[in-house]
This record gives sequence, structure tokens and C-alpha cells, in this order.
Amino acid sequence: MIDDATLWTSAIAARLLAHAPFSHFLVGAALETVDGEIISGCNVENASYGLTICAERVAVFKAISEGKTKFRRICIVADTKTPIPPCGACRQILWEFGGNLEVVLGNLTGITAKHTMAQLLPLAFDRGILNEGG
Ligand code: THU
Repeated sequence: MIDDATLWTSAIAARLLAHAPFSHFLVGAALETVDGEIISGCNVENASYGLTICAERVAVFKAISEGKTKFRRICIVADTKTPIPPCGACRQILWEFGGNLEVVLGNLTGITAKHTMAQLLPLAFDRGILNEGG
């Protein structure tokens, strides 16, 4: 298990790689696998704004594309006083690939909050309900 400081440091380092020339809002994410690996992500924006992808989704998709499919937690950081909560789209993706992950939120000074995905996305839509459909 990776300690909080290591996970937070990875998210902070990833944040500095963000491509955010439009919002200037840099976000870093560090996803911890059950094997104790860290896969990082940063937000990547586009002049066609809707194509922007959040740091959390970059981290998840990097991991999946490398065959890493079991996760323990994700740390998300931005330069904000209030801990940065994952957006709605990212919550759906995190639930799909991570289930009830621990979500560790922080800023440049350290970790400021911890939640579970079940707290952040109650009554989630997922494959369970698809299987009930005719
Ligand atoms: N952003 C993230 O990377 N993660 C979030 O959870 C919220 C928003 C990014 C997307 C965009 O590049 C910038 O922050 C402003 O919305």
C-alpha cells in the first residue's frame, strides 16, 4: 500500500504536466493499483473545448490501456482552497473501472479530504442494471 504522501506527490507532479492553455486550471491525478503501482494523469485541453479530458480520466484510461484493471484509490489535486471534487463524467468513469474506490482530494499544501466513490456517486448507473433489461 502506498502512503498518502507518495500518492499526493505523484498527483502534484502530474499536475505540472497539464495542458490547460484555455482554463489555466491545472489538475493532477494519481491512481493507485491494488499492486501498489501509481498511474498518473493530468488534464489535457483542446481548442475545441468539448474535447478536453480531465486528469482523472487520463489516469484511468492510461491504466486500462496498460492492462492495469484493479485499483485501490485515486488522489486528485489542484491549486484550490476547496478540495477539487471529480466532475460528474469522471465519477461515472471511476465507478465503471474502480467501483467503490477511495477518493483522496488535495491541494498544493497536502491532502484535505477523503471520500468513497459510493459517497460521491450514490445510486450509480452501471452494468448491474443493464443486465436487468430485456
Ligand atoms: N478538470 C479536471 O481535470 N478534473 C476535474 O475533476 C474537474 C475539471 C479540468 C478540465 C479542464 O481542463 C479544467 O479542469 C477546467 O474545467
